[in-house]
Amino acid sequence: MKSAAPAPTEIADRLRISAPPGSDLAWRAPGRANLIGEHTDYNDGFVLPVALGLALYIAGRRSPGSLRLASLDQSGMASVDLSTGEGPDKGWGRYATAVVRSLLDEGVELTGFSGVLVSEVPTGAGLASSAALEVAIASALVAEPLDPVRMAKICRRAENVYVGVQSGIMDQLASAAGRSGHALLIDCRDISVEAVEVPAGLRVVVIDSAVQRGLADSGYNERRSQCEAAASAMGVASLRDADGDLLESHRERMGDVVYRRARHVIGENQRVMDSVAALRRADFERLGRLFDDSHRSYAQDFEASTPEVDMLVEVAQDTGGVIAARLTGGGFGGCTVNLVREGRTENAAAEILDGYRARTGLEGRLWVSEPADGATPLEFLTKGGFTPAPSG
Ligand code: GLA
Repeated sequence: MKSAAPAPTEIADRLRISAPPGSDLAWRAPGRANLIGEHTDYNDGFVLPVALGLALYIAGRRSPGSLRLASLDQSGMASVDLSTGEGPDKGWGRYATAVVRSLLDEGVELTGFSGVLVSEVPTGAGLASSAALEVAIASALVAEPLDPVRMAKICRRAENVYVGVQSGIMDQLASAAGRSGHALLIDCRDISVEAVEVPAGLRVVVIDSAVQRGLADSGYNERRSQCEAAASAMGVASLRDADGDLLESHRERMGDVVYRRARHVIGENQRVMDSVAALRRADFERLGRLFDDSHRSYAQDFEASTPEVDMLVEVAQDTGGVIAARLTGGGFGGCTVNLVREGRTENAAAEILDGYRARTGLEGRLWVSEPADGATPLEFLTKGGFTPAPSG
């Protein structure tokens, strides 16, 4: 059984006050930062995310036949019928409807739930806030706990089929299967997961550029179809099966844009594997270069960065104590992920935010996080706080 840090006191208090009378259940589902491997997951490739200390919390009680949820951060209430899957189709509530429908499609036995949720994971920042929401809702609804891979597949399907974003498996799997102190090397072809220790002495620092992810869903789906076009031009099932030579020999046939999308993905798969090797050797110089290359490729070949995010990465690269920096997540704005030497974190953080403000006029926000465990049940206490459920 995994252990998790107790919910922060302020969150535990808010949930306890607002949860329906008789509440006795609670879960935590984290957001994630991807260290490296962007837009590789739906190309059957490799990714290397960490689950974050930032999480979404849900608390409530069993309630027959329906899911009823109120958010303490956002307006509205989601009410979903568990026999028909009828529920909201807009706002955050559409994720609740989508998860219920996906669970029903898979024939998973559900128990009703009535409760409240609160999230520390910022929305629209590329830290997988929707995956945290999906995983938390699914955790609260299932009669028997699901294995993390199955949970992640059901939640991704909810997003693909019922929300309409053609995302890969990374976010849901990081939220469901994260491991404290480790990144997850995920082979997205067979969905196998290997935990890779993040060396002691490194901190994961996530910095929000304050550029909300604009047109992210349409840009995302467009990138995905360009990758599919590249694979089909090369006659392979997915970009995982292509290498640089095959790509070059088809360059003329696929046109410049599709060629560059594929070049990013093929190079990025290799950079994930090289980063795992560098983490294992604690080769920080190499890690830094791999992150630089990854960001450049994401910005120039995949065209999914923004000038502000590029600036945020550049400022970080020039800051003492920062080992590696790049845009993380789906792109088109959002957050950077930075590996920073412990002991230098506070100074580096302040320096980066100051430098970014001076160059762009934007006020970034930042979180320092230990790689955390994936979704965990918490004990709901009527007094005191939330604590991890006893293991066993
Ligand atoms: C989003 C998706 C993921 C992944 C990343 C890009 O976060 O949900 O599946 O494709 O973008 O790496």
